[in-house]
Amino acid sequence: MSKTILGILASGRGSNMQAICNSIDAGLLHAKVGLVISDKANAKVLEHAAAKGIPAICIERKDFPSKQEFEAAIAQQLTLYHVDLVVLAGFMRILSAYFVNLFSGSIMNIHPSLLPAFPGLDAHEQAIAYGAKVSGCTIHFVDEGMDTGPIIMQQAVSILADDTVETLSERILAVEHKLYPQAIRLYCEQRLCIEGRNVKII
Ligand code: GAR
Repeated sequence: MSKTILGILASGRGSNMQAICNSIDAGLLHAKVGLVISDKANAKVLEHAAAKGIPAICIERKDFPSKQEFEAAIAQQLTLYHVDLVVLAGFMRILSAYFVNLFSGSIMNIHPSLLPAFPGLDAHEQAIAYGAKVSGCTIHFVDEGMDTGPIIMQQAVSILADDTVETLSERILAVEHKLYPQAIRLYCEQRLCIEGRNVKII
């Protein structure tokens, strides 16, 4: 079977991108990162990708008159690199229905809470402020809503009495790094079947 080509979109430090690359290097994931795109010129993820010899491109919203033209530029690069699966790894923008429809059923996102609890920005802070005893992370297919698409995998992480945003995010991140490569692997093995809101693992 040919390798699934991943296109990673990320806005920041890129630790999930690195975890995915490590899984590929360890032979656990039959995939190739075709390119990494960031919407932030100074994002660490671009440095990490370039260091690994992965094409790393910055596409900034401010360089386009409209959101659709910005997204079309991203889509053009993904298509140019023959991307099969778009992997959002800390990409801090909501993609429009236009983009989602271009890659329908082939965009994944990771979010640091147990959705539908605490969507959007500052998920760790939201969970601590709410007084929740459990949070975690969710990997889901992307639809046109914010963190609303069909859920692929989730794992819980306890919130401790003295947790800060930093300590909680560190423990959740360790789980993210294990879970995201697993979810991508299921996609590569064609074992994810979307039935409405339900993702069946076959
Ligand atoms: C991760 O914790 C990811 O779950 C979160 O951004 C971080 C990116 O870290 N994503 C979101 O909050 C999306 N709403 P990384 O750049 O080190 O992979």
